[in-house]
Formats: sequence, C-alpha cells, structure tokens
Amino acid sequence: MNRSHDHEMAVTLTQGDRSRRAFVATLRSHVLQRMAGELRQHFEGTVGPEHAKSGAPLETPEAIHEAMKVEFPFKAYSSVRTAAQEMVFDVVSDAVDRELEMLNEKAAQPAKTGTLRLDPSLQLPKSVTGIDVHLSPGSYHVEHAEADVSAGAVYDNSIDVFAFGQFGKQHNDIGSTLSNYLRLKFPDFTPASILDCGCTIGHNTLPWAETYPDAEITAIDVAAPVLRYAHARAESMGVAAHFKQMDATSMAFGDEQFDVVFSSMFMHELPLKHLHQYLKEAFRVLKPGGILWQMELPPMNAMPNYENFCMNWDTYYNNEPYYGTFRRQDYQQLLIDAGFSADQFVEATMPRYTFIGEEAFGEAIEDGNTFDTLTGRMDPKGTRWYGFGAWKR
Ligand SMILES: C[S@@+](CC[C@H](N)C(=O)[O-])C[C@H]1O[C@@H](n2cnc3c(N)ncnc32)[C@H](O)[C@@H]1O
Repeated sequence: MNRSHDHEMAVTLTQGDRSRRAFVATLRSHVLQRMAGELRQHFEGTVGPEHAKSGAPLETPEAIHEAMKVEFPFKAYSSVRTAAQEMVFDVVSDAVDRELEMLNEKAAQPAKTGTLRLDPSLQLPKSVTGIDVHLSPGSYHVEHAEADVSAGAVYDNSIDVFAFGQFGKQHNDIGSTLSNYLRLKFPDFTPASILDCGCTIGHNTLPWAETYPDAEITAIDVAAPVLRYAHARAESMGVAAHFKQMDATSMAFGDEQFDVVFSSMFMHELPLKHLHQYLKEAFRVLKPGGILWQMELPPMNAMPNYENFCMNWDTYYNNEPYYGTFRRQDYQQLLIDAGFSADQFVEATMPRYTFIGEEAFGEAIEDGNTFDTLTGRMDPKGTRWYGFGAWKR
C-alpha cells in the first residue's frame, strides 16, 4: 500500500507495514461501502417509513441524524468508522518514525528548482492548533524535531490508506481534474501565475505545472512541517513550485498577482469568519480576467437529504467542526460577499481525470452537473468531484 510514493521522500515499508496498511484501507472501504449501504437500507426500509407513518417524517439531515443516532446500525457504523480513522494515522506513523531523521535531512537539502519560505513569526489559527483535525494526532503543525517534516510525511502516507486509492496514483486527481477542466473548457485562458491555498503537501498543487507548464506555481499553508515536506517532495519529483508559510485569510501578496487562485478541500476546515476573509483576500490577489476556483464538498442545497445526513457525519464525529456550517452556505452568495459579480459564478461536477483519461473526460464535461450519491464522495464506482468559483471581471 505505497503505490503513490515514487519520490525520494518515500519511506521504506516492511511487510508488516504493508499488511497493516492494507487491512486499514480495506476496513475503511468496508465501512464506507458495505456498512454505509446497510445503514441506508435500515433508514429506507425501517426508520424513515416508521417516522412517516407516525406523522413525523424525517425531512432534514438533522432530523435524520436525531432518529438514526440511537439505532444500533448507526452506532456500529460510527464506532468502526472512528476506529478506522484513528488507525489510518497509527499504521502509517511506524515507518515515518523509523526514518524521520533521514527524512528531515533530505528535506533540508538545498533546493534545485522551487523555493520554500517559512515564517516562524506567523500566528497559527486555532482552527488548526486547537484540535486534532480529522483525528490526525498533532494536526498539521506539531513538530517533533528541528526542521521537522513528520506531519507532512504522515499525511502523504495516510492518503492511500484513508482514500483506498481513490485520489489517484500520485494523490493528485483533484488538481489534475480541475486544471484539465479549465484547460479544456476555456482553451483561450492561459494562466501565467497560479496560487494554491491550504496546499498541505502540494499533491494537488503539482499537477498545475503539468497542465500549464509555462505558469509559475505558488502554494501557501500555515503549517511549516507540511510545507517542508511539500517542497522536498516537489523537488524530488522535479517540479518547480514556490511554497510559502502564509495565512490565506491575510496574504502577504500584492493586489492582482494571480491568474488562478484555487483551493482543494480547504474551505470546509475554516471557521465561517475566516472563510469570508479568505475569499476577500482571494478576490484581492486575483488579476482581472482571472478565476477563483474551490474544489469542495457539494452544497447542502444541491444534495438529497440522506446524502447530507451522511456527509454531516464528519462534523459530529471526525473533528471537522466547520464542515456542516460551510456546506449550509449559499456558495454563490459567499463569492458575491467577497466582491465577485453574481453573473460570473461558475460551478461544475467532474469525473476523475486521471482515472478516465482525456477523451472520456472531455466528453463528460460537456454534460450538465450531476448531484447524487457519487458527488463529492470517495467511491470505487466513480467519484465525481464538485467545484465552484467565479471570474473576476
Ligand atoms: C484539508 S487540508 C487541504 C488539503 C489539500 N489542499 C488537498 O488538496 O487535499 C487543509 C490545509 O489548510 C491549511 N490551513 C488551515 N487554515 C489555513 C489558513 N488560514 N491559511 C492557510 N492554510 C490553512 C492546513 O494547515 C491544512 O494543510
């Protein structure tokens, strides 16, 4: 279970590491496919009809949660899912701990193509430091040694176990999908400068360099260990990118610097106040004629109630407290509040580029948007990513 580590920051795995990783990935897949399927049957066959018969139909995701949380299948599902989530970080940490000294040394080597700029004076937001985000011990920022990369190494190693391979061979499917969507949909748009906000280990930053080889790629994050790792990973893959420690709610860039500002699975980890600040900053640093795009969880108002109940699980049980509030927002209004014009709003659901290839992808993006059980969910049957944004005119 280390398919996607074809770079020099990859750790060496023992047979024990591989089998523990395979077990946890299978457990994650089991709970998210099989147990989730049985939970749905229990709702559709029993809990939903019983409430409807008693004259109190379950019409909101919150009402479904209230009714389901006392049911044994939900308790079993939640217990196994929480245990599996904790095990993801547990099983990948063994190999990272064994090789940490070597990883930190490799990451400290002089850069060949890109750059890394850290800011030790940066005040980290409580939304990162106050909790172990999605049950990852130490969140993104805790350091165990001088110039430590362990949070980044754990994150990189955890992706395949967490997503059981659904994020693509180099964990880059979201970045590849969006950048190729823009290239194919807007062939006359040739961005020269691209910014990724909340980049973590840069896995969805690097595909932009492949899609737009002439563009300068910059990526920011508040957490130093993930940035050190992102930089070393990019260097060893021969991709030039500029990683900077910076808060996206208060960027140290001048006005109108970037043709593309994007983020991937970032906004749902921000408190609402920071979300507004980030979008205002994104508007400020974007050039006129440029585009802001967020790859994110689909909004509640576009998804069926039961899917919203499923997606809300992370808010209640996975240390992702801002997830539900974010999904309840009107995404278009969020962008209008930040300065964008209502008629410049864009949104799309997209199949996974690295899984289906250029031709099928090109055909699929001509069709309209689809919101169903595959939208925004990891599913071997064919996840569909969701994104929204706006042009700055
Ligand atoms: C879920 S991860 C993003 C994952 C990644 N972009 C991807 O494509 O999978 C959220 C990242 O945002 C960073 N972050 C949180 N608040 C931030 C802020 N205010 N400014 C910049 N980065 C922030 C965290 O340190 C973390 O690395």
